[in-house]
Amino acid sequence: MMKLKKAIIPAAGLGTRFLPITKAVPKPMLSVLDKPTIQYIAEELESIGIEDIIIVVSPGSDVIERHFGRNSALEERLIADKKEKLIEIEKATRKFNVTFVTQYVPNGLAGAILCAEPYVKDQPFALLLGDELLYAEGNQKPCIKRLAEIFEDTGKSVIATMEVFGDDLSKYGNIGIESEEDGVMQVNAIKEKPSVNEALSNNAIIGRYVMSGKVMAMLKTLQPKGNEIYFTDALEILAKNGELLATCFEGERFDVGDKLGYIKANVELALKSAEIGDDTAQFIKELAERLK
Ligand code: G1P
Repeated sequence: MMKLKKAIIPAAGLGTRFLPITKAVPKPMLSVLDKPTIQYIAEELESIGIEDIIIVVSPGSDVIERHFGRNSALEERLIADKKEKLIEIEKATRKFNVTFVTQYVPNGLAGAILCAEPYVKDQPFALLLGDELLYAEGNQKPCIKRLAEIFEDTGKSVIATMEVFGDDLSKYGNIGIESEEDGVMQVNAIKEKPSVNEALSNNAIIGRYVMSGKVMAMLKTLQPKGNEIYFTDALEILAKNGELLATCFEGERFDVGDKLGYIKANVELALKSAEIGDDTAQFIKELAERLK
């Protein structure tokens, strides 16, 4: 079975929900605690040893490139000052082999993925949407690792889902389930953002996917609807052909494309932080008292 070697991170959204910060700072550079969201996502790929990451950015995102590149003046300074811990933190930003591709026309998720086509061609690829941070701890398996295992076992494309109820169903892509075995679902239909009544199941698609080698060519054949090419259209074809699997992810998920989700991510990761976790917990207890 073909091993997964490539990953695409579409991160070209303009982030208008976060204006004014996103006027000059690209959305993927928004920081949760002290790290930009895009670095958390690249780090998820360490669990499957993927080295080739293609980040699809909007024009004017060169600061993301700088984040993953060298800053000799900073490096020299940290070394001269013998700041060992900071040297490690800085080094961790440039261990990835990242290719940047600019998406000049915002033409949908499939349009963004197609920008990465010259670097992926007919190889399978992991796809990680930049607005979501996933967190696995203890004996939870990182979501992308589970997807990669299922892909490498079956050769089929596989997507991650979570259980969602009520009105929240209409915020996500939704899957119809043909059968399920050992936590792996065979998907037979897809509905993008259905109303509660139209939903096929309680399984909502989250932004982690592993796509087989034929998907890139399939994307090229999709007809745009309005200005956008919908990735969901490709998932639908795969589902109808019995070539799409899904699994419910383990761990926590933060939607950092949303203000409340962004705050939650900061608070939760602050609580887990060795540096400020205890103080954050203390602060939250005091705050809860005040809000009573
Ligand atoms: C995209 C996908 C949708 C998925 C969601 C996960 O939607 O089209 O199927 O459920 O990501 O975040 P978007 O949030 O970009 O509208």
